[in-house]
Amino acid sequence: MSQIYPGEVFANTSDFDAGIRQLLPRYDEMLEVITRCVPSTSKKILELGCGTGELTLKMLKRCPDAEIIAVDYSPRMINFAREKVELAGYQQRWSGKEVDFGEWAIHPDKFRIGANFDACISSLAIHHLTDEMKQNLFIRIHETLSTDGCFWNADPTLPEAPVLAEVYKLAREEWATQQGTTLGDVRARVGTSSTYGYSSQDQLATLEAHLQMLMQAGFSTVAVPWKYYGLTVFGGLR
Ligand SMILES: C[S@@+](CC[C@H](N)C(=O)[O-])C[C@H]1O[C@@H](n2cnc3c(N)ncnc32)[C@H](O)[C@@H]1O
Repeated sequence: MSQIYPGEVFANTSDFDAGIRQLLPRYDEMLEVITRCVPSTSKKILELGCGTGELTLKMLKRCPDAEIIAVDYSPRMINFAREKVELAGYQQRWSGKEVDFGEWAIHPDKFRIGANFDACISSLAIHHLTDEMKQNLFIRIHETLSTDGCFWNADPTLPEAPVLAEVYKLAREEWATQQGTTLGDVRARVGTSSTYGYSSQDQLATLEAHLQMLMQAGFSTVAVPWKYYGLTVFGGLR
């Protein structure tokens, strides 16, 4: 089987939108929470790891004046997102850039990403970085936001105890069953990946560790507006 980049998840990009909704409970609700935490008057939004553009589309709909700079290191995912953005008629307000956000965290001057963003958003992507790189990225995001900017991220977090890991796993199995499938069947469509750029397979940190990293990066307020078993939306205000 051909290799995919960490985070692309499915061997065929066209399986992503349906497959991720079977693999993860309440995916749409989780993304909606991010869109609600970003002020609808936002003009400039940075999205990290846009994938097939599901969060992008929800965000563009919610913020009618916003322009989104979306980065992803996978040309397959960016192209898929671009087609959907064009189909929805949002192409004037979206630009996709092929960038490894780990590389951007370390060498921002190599890229023309811009600054003074009203918001930075991300879903299911940053957990592919090591904790050291997560910290570097949070520092870079903090620097890239306007003074009243915000950052919201949805990611799986490390279960707080082995007994909870079992609880979270069962919740995902039951969710897949409710969707008329099994986790095993969904996982059969998942591709194989090894380290690419700054990302590797899941490198989860606890929610507490994430919040500490955000405070260390300088965020004045950190918060967790949503949590469902092991999935979390967290972030902060600059
Ligand atoms: C699971 S997908 C999530 C996509 C989308 N945000 C969503 O919620 O549907 C994760 C995305 O992050 C991208 N990604 C992972 N690590 C990355 C990195 N270091 N730089 C840029 N993109 C990355 C992958 O290519 C993939 O498109």
